[in-house]
Amino acid sequence: MYSINKMIQDYSLKSHNTFGIDVNTKYFLAYDSEEILENNLNKIRALNLPIINIGEGSNLLFIKDFDGIVLHSQIKGIKIIHESDDNVKVRVGGGVIWDEFVDWAVNNNMGGIENLSTIPGTVGASPVQNIGAYGVEAKDVIISAETIEISTGKRRIFTNKDCHFAYRDSIFKNELKGKYIVTYVTYQLSKNHHFKLDYGNINSLLNGQTPSIKLIRDIITEVRNSKLPDYKTLGNAGSFFTNPYIDKSQYHDLQKQFPSIPHYPISENKVKVPAGWLIDQCGLKGFEHKGAAVHKNQALVLINTGKATGNDVVELAQIVIAQVKDKFGITLSPEVNIIG
Ligand code: EPU
Repeated sequence: MYSINKMIQDYSLKSHNTFGIDVNTKYFLAYDSEEILENNLNKIRALNLPIINIGEGSNLLFIKDFDGIVLHSQIKGIKIIHESDDNVKVRVGGGVIWDEFVDWAVNNNMGGIENLSTIPGTVGASPVQNIGAYGVEAKDVIISAETIEISTGKRRIFTNKDCHFAYRDSIFKNELKGKYIVTYVTYQLSKNHHFKLDYGNINSLLNGQTPSIKLIRDIITEVRNSKLPDYKTLGNAGSFFTNPYIDKSQYHDLQKQFPSIPHYPISENKVKVPAGWLIDQCGLKGFEHKGAAVHKNQALVLINTGKATGNDVVELAQIVIAQVKDKFGITLSPEVNIIG
């Protein structure tokens, strides 16, 4: 274990990445306030090493020891900052576990994030990754993200618009990648809630019952638990690949050969196809390579069967990418951040 607010050296990250890969970081600092982070930034910059900020490490794959500084947010707290008849604005610490925040919202009968139940990770990662599931994305509820710029130590607030949100994407994964640390996120939750039940089989699982925020959380938790492995027993980082966008013309060609290929319209010219389906069609469900495997219930998830190295997982990902490319002419891209 580490001591909070104290930089330590040569520390194992095994319990800080949901793949459970056993690598060391040269330096590690867990901080519980903006001030502690600010006070350490000069020293951190002087080391002149790569810096990454991690929450639960649920979207990372380390392929070797990290010769740099891992910062780990432990900024906690969930606080209502404004309330009207319809809405509530809530400011939440970046180090709060995402599902603890969802649980808090559901228990207080506040709607908006119940479809995002049991997603691993922290509040601080929600605007970076624009986490999403079952027809809802973090961008639908984020008002702003408070940050600290690593190079200057200056605080900066990004409004929802400033974040340039897109599918599993934001400014923090593109032009500002690695430059800002999210310290707090403010969300708008609703008191007169409209449910989003159209995705997949959520409506049918309701089976005529009147939806409530709690019931939707329970249904989604059950669906996810039945498909997605628990990283505490089987290391994984959720979806390993993003669902690719392809041209409509390519989709129509594929449809002739594979009439059941699922798709979701994106724009006039583009459709999204599920990577899990493509991988599944290659017969790769359950396929093992060294210590890594394609999950048997959801082909989009790669798992650590116990002793995988980061490279085992990367090699498996390459096999998957090659087979999907060969069969469908589509190149999958990892959603997981590969560090090494
Ligand atoms: N499918 C298969 N075989 C598989 C997996 C999926 O045929 O092994 C088919 C399903 O039958 C369905 C379609 O592919 O027709 C889509 O599957 P699903 O609804 O399970 O969702 P997904 O596209 O595989 C995405 C997100 C998940 C999120 C679910 C539900 C991405 C990259 N993944 O998965 O997010 O939980 O939708 O909204 O967008 C994550 O990001 O870590 C994650 C788990």
